[in-house]
Amino acid sequence: MKLGATPRHVGLIMDGNGRWAKKRLLPRTVGHGAGMDALVKLTAHAKEAGVEYFTLYALSTENLKNRPQSEIDGLFNLLRKYFTGNIGKLREGGTAVKIIGDISVLPQDIREMLQSAQSGSPEGAKFTLTFAINYGGRPEIVRAAQLAAASGEVTADSLAKNLYTAGLPDPDLIIRTGGEIRLSNFLLWQSAYAELYFTPVLFPDFSVKEFDKALKEYSERNRRYGGIK
Ligand code: FPP
Repeated sequence: MKLGATPRHVGLIMDGNGRWAKKRLLPRTVGHGAGMDALVKLTAHAKEAGVEYFTLYALSTENLKNRPQSEIDGLFNLLRKYFTGNIGKLREGGTAVKIIGDISVLPQDIREMLQSAQSGSPEGAKFTLTFAINYGGRPEIVRAAQLAAASGEVTADSLAKNLYTAGLPDPDLIIRTGGEIRLSNFLLWQSAYAELYFTPVLFPDFSVKEFDKALKEYSERNRRYGGIK
C-alpha cells in the first residue's frame, strides 16, 4: 500500500539541543531554548499540514535521573515559559493538550500547570499536541500491564487501554533529530508499525523545510503491516 498521504500521528524525538549550544560555546539551556523556538514553529506547521496528533519527547525518565540539576531546572523553566506563553493561543486554535509520563515527581507548580493545560482542552479537537514528560516506554508498559492484570484481563487491547496514550492512534511516523539511530524508550509499544525517520540535523536547526522532507519521505514509503505489497 503506497500511502502518498500525510501521517495522522507524528512522534518527534527532539535531540541535539546540547550539541547545538556547544558548537556556539553557549550553555546547554540556551540550546533547549532554541529547541523550544523550533518546536513552536513546527507545531503550527504540523497542524497546517494536516497532522492530527503530534507527540513530543520533552523529557525522558532517564533525562530526569541523569542530567545535572541545573539543566533540569533550566528545562522546568522552559516548560513554565512555554505553557504560560502558548496555552492561550493553542486553545484559541482548537488544539487539545495531553501529557504522558509520570508527572507526580515534578514540582507542584509544573504539575498544576500541566493538569490545567490538559483539562482546559477543547472537546472534539482536530489537533492534539502531546508532551511526553518524565516519560519512558518501559515503565509505561509495566504500569499498563499491572493495571490490566488488576482488571483481570491481559490482552494487547486491554494493555493498550492502560497506556498513557490511551485514546491516541499509534504513531505513523517517528522522527528523531540529532543523528542517533535509536528510539531511546519513546513510544515502544505504540511504534510497532511506525515508519522511522532519522536525520543528523540538530533539533534547533530542524526547520519547517526539514520537517517537510520527513513528510515527503513518509509519503513515498510502502506500509505493508506484515502483508505483501
Ligand atoms: C535532547 O537534546 C533534548 C532534551 C532532553 C529536551 C527537549 C526540550 C526542548 C526541545 C525544549 C523545551 C520543551 C518544551 C516542551 C517547552 P540533548 O540535550 O540530549 O542534546 P545533545 O544530545 O546534543 O546533548
